[in-house]
Amino acid sequence: MPLYSEKVMDHFRNPRNVGVIENADGVGEVGNAKCGDIMKIYLKIDGSNITDVKFETFGCGSAIASSSMATELIKGKPLSEALQLTNRAVAEALDGLPAHKMHCSVLAEEAIKAAIKDYYDRNHIAYPYGMFPDCSCCEHQCDSQQQ
Ligand code: FES
Repeated sequence: MPLYSEKVMDHFRNPRNVGVIENADGVGEVGNAKCGDIMKIYLKIDGSNITDVKFETFGCGSAIASSSMATELIKGKPLSEALQLTNRAVAEALDGLPAHKMHCSVLAEEAIKAAIKDYYDRNHIAYPYGMFPDCSCCEHQCDSQQQ
């Protein structure tokens, strides 16, 4: 069996939603300290819906495929739904990732959450403390930092 599914290869070779949104309503950038890969997500938000999403990923093929699939999964969706997107759902939509590449899909989940957090912060929209536990994307200290 090949290491990567056809879907992973397709989204790696033909990534959807690559680029930058000028005047984005929310931008999230996260990185993985171990591999050095970086992912940036741009959101255009109308009311509570994501009307457009683009990404820039400087990373491995699995990170690019994960970014591409994640953006497809949240495009046109309500923010509440995008906030529920897990890295497992991204990997499943790609018909799986090798175990040692699952962390690449984590970047996609974190980058989307960081972009939504940025939107909330810019618009002074309150959210529960601890809702965005990844300290790499927020200014305040918290003790629930994820791997
Ligand atoms: Fe770093 Fe894939 S190896 S995100």
